[in-house]
Amino acid sequence: MEIRLIEKIPTADEFNMLTEAVGWGTREEKIVEEALRNTLYSLCVYDKDRLIGYGRIIGDKTIFLYIQDVMVIPQYQGRKIGTNIMEAVLKQVEEYMKINPDIRLYLGASKGMEAFYEKFGFVARPNDELGAGMIWGSRWKKK
Ligand SMILES: CC(C)(COP(=O)(O)OP(=O)(O)OC[C@H]1O[C@@H](n2cnc3c(N)ncnc32)[C@H](O)[C@@H]1OP(=O)(O)O)[C@@H](O)C(=O)NCCC(=O)NCCS
Repeated sequence: MEIRLIEKIPTADEFNMLTEAVGWGTREEKIVEEALRNTLYSLCVYDKDRLIGYGRIIGDKTIFLYIQDVMVIPQYQGRKIGTNIMEAVLKQVEEYMKINPDIRLYLGASKGMEAFYEKFGFVARPNDELGAGMIWGSRWKKK
């Protein structure tokens, strides 16, 4: 293995290969390209020339940030690559915090992934202080 973390935007093909490998399916190339172009911080993990992991930050850079698309392909899971991705992403968040130390960082954990994010200090909601995180989209529309 020759694992390298590189701050760059992957191609739509590379990104779709990853999302497919972790069971999230694929999206149209032009949609992926546009989404990745609008990303604040994009971190690729390569083994030699193969993209095997990824994470990104979206948001307004100073008040609200979202971590999205943290993924490691199954053959490489359980080797701390996800941890390395989160550490790099959080290091970038610290940069944004220099402008606003009270920045808010969100993410939506996939079902069953909460414990992974709790390791990095994320708190599940709802709790005594916060309401539920909510989502809107055709997939969840009530009939
Ligand atoms: C979640 C994911 C990125 C973790 O990557 P990884 O490289 O396997 O994680 P690591 O090897 O760095 O594991 C770090 C720790 O998290 C734990 N962990 C990993 N996946 C976990 C899970 N699903 N639930 C609970 N804990 C988990 C590990 O046991 C490890 O614990 P330890 O530090 O006590 O040993 C990876 O499993 C993945 O891509 N899953 C599919 C995509 C996905 O669901 N992403 C999350 C989107 S919200």
